[in-house]
Amino acid sequence: MKDPADYKPSPPVPFDYVQWGSTVYYGWQAVDQAAVALIETTPLFLVPGRRCENGRPVPVDRADYRRYTAELIDVARIAYRASQSRDVEAVTKIADQLNDACANCHKAYRDGVQEGSSAGANRCQ
Ligand code: HEC
Repeated sequence: MKDPADYKPSPPVPFDYVQWGSTVYYGWQAVDQAAVALIETTPLFLVPGRRCENGRPVPVDRADYRRYTAELIDVARIAYRASQSRDVEAVTKIADQLNDACANCHKAYRDGVQEGSSAGANRCQ
């Protein structure tokens, strides 16, 4: 991993809002905010009444889906503490755990494709 402290962007020419944003919040602050975004938005996975893209209800009552959600929040909290330490090694160490927290749920609720059905048809069940 590159050390976020070494990154110092300059304003984009011609002007572009997305690129400009990365000149205001960059380096370690961007890493902090990514972790905070995960901590604060992941609980939205459990909002009742929503549907997945294929129309199935989001499986908010399934114990394992709730556990995968809780695990992602836990890892995001650890990632935030690691970012706050400003220690590249600490953030790198948490990366695999973070990836697993995403992948565990995807294996169960996103990526399963049964023969003869289109990708996405078996999601969220
Ligand atoms: C609790 C379960 C769960 C966790 C944890 C989770 N996801 Fe997902 N993710 C899903 C489901 C289910 C879908 C498909 C939603 C749909 O089709 O409506 C999805 C879709 C996506 C997509 C859209 C791609 C596509 O094929 O539709 C991306 C990108 C994604 N997830 C990234 C992530 C990342 C990055 C993380 C970890 C930081 C994460 N997800 C954690 C369940 C989860």
